[in-house]
Amino acid sequence: MAEHEDTTDPKRGATIEDYFEEDRTFPPPEGLAAAALTADRSLFDRADADFEGFWADQARELAWFERFETVLEWDLPFAKWFGGGRLNVSYNCLDRHVEAGLGDRVAYYFEGEPGDTRTITYSELLEEVCKAANALHSLGVERGDRVAIYMPMIPELPVAMLACARIGAAHSVVFGGFSADALRGRIEDAEAKVLITADGGWRRGQPVALKANVDAALSGGAASIEHVLVVRRLGDAAPDTAMTDGRDVWWHDTVDGQPAHCPPEAMESEDLLFILYTSGTTAQPKGIMHTTGGYLTQVAFTHKYVFDIHADTDIYWCAADVGWVTGHSYIVYGPLANAATSVLYEGTLDHPGRDRWWSIIEAYKVSILYCAPTAIRTFMKWGTEHPTAHDLTSLRVLGSVGEPINPEAWIWYWTHIGGSRCPVVDTWWQTETGAIMISPLPGVTTLKPGSATFPLPGISAEVVDDAGVSIDRGGGYLTLSRPWPSMLRGIYGDTERYRETYWSRFEGKYFAGDGAKIDDEGYFWLLGRVDDVMNVSGHRVSTTEVESALVDHPTVAEAAVVGALDATTGQSIIAFVTLISGVEVDAEHGEALRKHVATKIGPIARPKTIIFTDDLPKTRSGKIMRRLLRDVAEGRDLGDTTTLADASVVEELRNRAAAQPGEE
Ligand code: WT7
Repeated sequence: MAEHEDTTDPKRGATIEDYFEEDRTFPPPEGLAAAALTADRSLFDRADADFEGFWADQARELAWFERFETVLEWDLPFAKWFGGGRLNVSYNCLDRHVEAGLGDRVAYYFEGEPGDTRTITYSELLEEVCKAANALHSLGVERGDRVAIYMPMIPELPVAMLACARIGAAHSVVFGGFSADALRGRIEDAEAKVLITADGGWRRGQPVALKANVDAALSGGAASIEHVLVVRRLGDAAPDTAMTDGRDVWWHDTVDGQPAHCPPEAMESEDLLFILYTSGTTAQPKGIMHTTGGYLTQVAFTHKYVFDIHADTDIYWCAADVGWVTGHSYIVYGPLANAATSVLYEGTLDHPGRDRWWSIIEAYKVSILYCAPTAIRTFMKWGTEHPTAHDLTSLRVLGSVGEPINPEAWIWYWTHIGGSRCPVVDTWWQTETGAIMISPLPGVTTLKPGSATFPLPGISAEVVDDAGVSIDRGGGYLTLSRPWPSMLRGIYGDTERYRETYWSRFEGKYFAGDGAKIDDEGYFWLLGRVDDVMNVSGHRVSTTEVESALVDHPTVAEAAVVGALDATTGQSIIAFVTLISGVEVDAEHGEALRKHVATKIGPIARPKTIIFTDDLPKTRSGKIMRRLLRDVAEGRDLGDTTTLADASVVEELRNRAAAQPGEE
């Protein structure tokens, strides 16, 4: 224990300490920079000189029915962006492009999991959205109402969202993997009038019924729902789909026969566009509210510049689910506002084979891929033979979102997917921020693997210490020190909770709940949720840094690190590790990994215990469930050394993950 007791260590007691060093750098590839939308500091300079003027410029890229009079009215923590302006999001995403002569451009290449495909142009999408909007009117939905959406990843999902936007009803999309209880809670909180769903969807070759969950949700409450609009996705594969007379209607009966015109409502810039629920520390999920003008401005701007979108040539694929904010902002609103062509894929990573994604990229000549580190680490585990079997040379930009991407996962993505020629943009943001906040620009920024690099133009992020004082080097809490156009406008129905959750910890600043460090060159490195930071003998050690050190070992695909209560050191570091396919687990291996961490970042970060496991428990959005791992670690006597592929631990992980409520 001696190494833990050195009280002269200058890092002892720091807000969050930083140990991990990564000095590989990747400047923008020359060819890409030469053709990029921006390849110099001009956007940053413009924003630094006049941040409101900068955002007003971006807002003017949209079509407004009535021009805005003010840019920002800021009454902390309440922001109003583009006051007096009127616009419609679906008009901006559809009509505007059709009027500009782009009606025949493909909006979505849909690929169903069973292999069925649909190509939908901007004019077709506009017609479909108008019909759906008219159908919603016929079901009694009016401007200002809320509509719940619970669907698989099929084209009717963006159609439903845009139809709501067209008539000025706010949508609340509930991820299709959530339970009936979770659905009911969200419907009740928002008092949704109509629910749009499907008989089901395809997952790993199996039909997954959704309508049965809907019936369960509605039978136990959710009395605000007057009608349920049901897409027939599974058809004969879901023969038992029950329809309740007077309440439930089929999409094909209700939507298809509607007129293909529907005038877009002229919405106020600050009218509610959608609610999206996100789980917090308490059981009650928070209904995050996003409004119209500011949200669309920032998602369009960030989508265009972070991915360097050349809408006439790029094929863009964001592989998230529309049920998460990533899908809202970067499958639906951002790409459509920019008249981009996207791939929309219904299914999983590995159906029918572990190369499904790479076959999609090859087939559609995808040029931009945006996905989560959890997917990348899964592909690492499966080995390089799957991507190398396909032609991925169409790719030119790669994106990452949702969690810190470990440097080695970044390098793997860069090398084996991007062919060492595609910048990897690691984008930091949240449901609450609505759009990307910290990220490289591919033609401008020199990349460091594992770093989200710098705040985007117009964004002001600061790392602060416990007292809220901004630091320009070292680890602390990530805050946002100025309002931004796509910021959440509150928590639906709970103003106090909004103030308390985000604006009370540091005066005048938004607290994101994440740890971050700034390196000598001003790069931002995300360190994980501050609730997960470990305290080992008084040292505040980031879970992300220890995980990255583990993944740095050539045999490790994925690692999750937690602090478990320890009588001697306060907390001790327990690591759950997944090895790449084919590596043998033996007694020495755990010791080798512990040593590797100690060499890479220092003895303080050496895991006390390493547990090998084939799988890590994850939330439905792919985040590692550290709280659950901590419970597992604390609930057991794990001993002082390596636990070898302990079947009972793995079993326990599996059981506990299965027993989690729908929320997580
Ligand atoms: C939390 C937000 C952003 C859309 C999807 C998740 C973590 C997100 C990164 C990144 C490190 C990241 C943070 C954040 N996170 N992106 N690039 N590097 N951490 O949205 O479910 O609201 O989660 O995800 O912890 O606070 P969300």
